[in-house]
Amino acid sequence: MTCVVDDAVQRSSPFWGEHGLAFLIESEAERVLFDTGQSGTVLLHNLELLDVDPATIDALAISHAHYDHTGGLPALLEHVSPGTPLYANPDLFRERLSRREGEPQAVGLSVTREALAAHLTLCLNAAAQEILPRLWTTGEITERPEPEGGSDYHLMREGDSLVADAYRDDMALVLQTGERLVLLCGCCHAGLLNTLAHVERAFERPIAVISGGLHLTSATLDDLQHITDVLSAMPALQRVYPNHCTGEAAFVALTQVLGPSIVRAYSAGTVLEF
Ligand SMILES: [Fe+2]
Ligand SMILES: [Fe+2]
Repeated sequence: MTCVVDDAVQRSSPFWGEHGLAFLIESEAERVLFDTGQSGTVLLHNLELLDVDPATIDALAISHAHYDHTGGLPALLEHVSPGTPLYANPDLFRERLSRREGEPQAVGLSVTREALAAHLTLCLNAAAQEILPRLWTTGEITERPEPEGGSDYHLMREGDSLVADAYRDDMALVLQTGERLVLLCGCCHAGLLNTLAHVERAFERPIAVISGGLHLTSATLDDLQHITDVLSAMPALQRVYPNHCTGEAAFVALTQVLGPSIVRAYSAGTVLEF
């Protein structure tokens, strides 16, 4: 599992960084790209450094519509093999906006459904989908009793109006390793604890590894305390590799409670093997 694009890069690394995320998941025979970063420029540069020809990618999966996860798609389309499957939630194509000040800005997909369908095989499903043997999408995180990983300025189009983004499109990937699960998050807008509960319920195994963007930037100190309590009580949890939108305060809080189980530096070029 290689981090291809992240907000951070290691000192002197030849990889390029940008606010965004992309991962490559490889088995002995197959390759899946999960998210595409913010730009084709960074994505294609980093794939080239990893010696990965995009034409050899067997499947794409998209965590959610936001530009920092889908911005590399238009450039990637010119390089992937025709008919490559793309796994995502059907709500991926809804218009998404961000309103911090002034007029709302578009922050969703920069490529139309028709353009994607012309190049790729769209596998859109709110239920969990098997991408490769042992590699699944989580499907939609429908039960959300815990706080979501949202931001007040995220909006979506519903009919003629703009409403708070419900993040129905948000999903993560799950890798089954023996009796344990590895969770790979995009932005975790559905909420980290909601996602963890959904995955352990749906896949009936304990989670050993959590990685990716955990979107805890808007979490309060009480939220962080609650999250660290829950993670501390997860009997099989061995490692957490937070990156992208996790947030500095969350990283510090997690490290204070969980110590060396929290690993920094899951940035572009880092490889995890399972
Ligand atoms: Fe996002
Ligand atoms: Fe993100």
